[in-house]
Amino acid sequence: MAQPVLGFSKKTKEEKIAWLVTNYLHNDTAALTTLKTYWNDDTALQNLHDDFIENTITNYYLPFGIAPNFLINEKLFALPMVIEESSVVAAAGNAAKFWLDKGGFTAEVISTTKNGQIHLNFYGENDHIHDFFDHVKPELIASIDALQKNMKKRGGGLIDLKLVDATQQLKGYYQIHATFETLDAMGANFINSCLETIAKRVEELGAQHQHFIATNSYPEVVMSILSNYVPECTVRAQVSCPVEKLANNGMDGATFARKFERAVAIANTEPRRAVTHNKGIMNGIDALILATGNDFRAIEAGVHAYAARDGHYKSLTNASVENDIFTFWIEVPLALGTVGGLTNLHPMVKLAFDMLQRPNAKELMQIVAVAGLAQNFAALRSLVTVGIQKGHMKMHLMNILNQFDASKSEKEKATAHFQEHAVSHASVVSYLEELRK
Ligand code: MEV
Repeated sequence: MAQPVLGFSKKTKEEKIAWLVTNYLHNDTAALTTLKTYWNDDTALQNLHDDFIENTITNYYLPFGIAPNFLINEKLFALPMVIEESSVVAAAGNAAKFWLDKGGFTAEVISTTKNGQIHLNFYGENDHIHDFFDHVKPELIASIDALQKNMKKRGGGLIDLKLVDATQQLKGYYQIHATFETLDAMGANFINSCLETIAKRVEELGAQHQHFIATNSYPEVVMSILSNYVPECTVRAQVSCPVEKLANNGMDGATFARKFERAVAIANTEPRRAVTHNKGIMNGIDALILATGNDFRAIEAGVHAYAARDGHYKSLTNASVENDIFTFWIEVPLALGTVGGLTNLHPMVKLAFDMLQRPNAKELMQIVAVAGLAQNFAALRSLVTVGIQKGHMKMHLMNILNQFDASKSEKEKATAHFQEHAVSHASVVSYLEELRK
């Protein structure tokens, strides 16, 4: 049985790998070779990646693909997408092409306000904490003058502080709810630094406040942290065209629009469907978020909370048909950064931004929302016409063939064969075995 290890982070990379191989990989030299195969030959580049996290032992590749032909607000984009799921980039490309001659996508940012909270305990009189807050609010704001000097110069910074009484939900629970504009930065570090500074000042000023002293009841800071729930940082993307132009896969436009609208209505009604529906949207969103070095966990958490904002988990997209015009749109919260974090560090992220013609955060919000909408369009389009497996299985076939080191000619033969036959792991393996006899 492996023993706990002390001072692991202080070991060199080679020592960490040796420890791992001895303790968990049965001294397997093949494992060692695999780990080292993924090292980059360029030592400086490898060191850069090593330093992103603690205890890096190797790199983990994900495909970086391109989905071209995205017409967004009348400008053509090729979207960089990082994703492991075989059909996602193909689906994005198909949706982009479908809308290319129908006016493309339009997108607009609705708002860009981010937020964070200082979570407080206070068991004294409600009036006392309100009086205190009103009295010290200017000083609390002044406490972050130095921190927000540069952000303010660029037009951002703290917007407001509000005291929230949440004692109905949890005894003694108050918040200082802070709102921020962080411009092109995702803003997590900025917001958290501001909150921690303000929180410290709350405790200092609280200790001197007469009401608190008189009653021996002081506000206590539990924690200070930004919120990844950003319903005031949202973007809307849309496609629209006459119904007759929607005819595809042998289905007329009106039938397609009716079934498509129904599919969205089902996702708005049935959470079991909504989760899968929104998962498909996140296929597109996450791929862009990863390519641009943003935090996909933050986006995921915020988006799903938004999908449940009415107390019922539902679709992030909506569809309507009015006067024979089909409209399909998405509204999502996306707190994104185009400066700071990995954006200035990771060479592939820099390249992704170059490919996107160096968008600012608002433009990136629009592009990412479009990627989500496009992905949902592609999924629903398949689902209500030919079914999802046709496209999925084409890519799945390639993965199985690669797993068995199929040659170029074997791949060609298998692709032709499986146009007429159902793809399954077993059927592909037996086809290859037959071929190789
Ligand atoms: C698969 O990754 C995504 C889909 O399931 C989305 C959907 O069902 O809408 C195809």
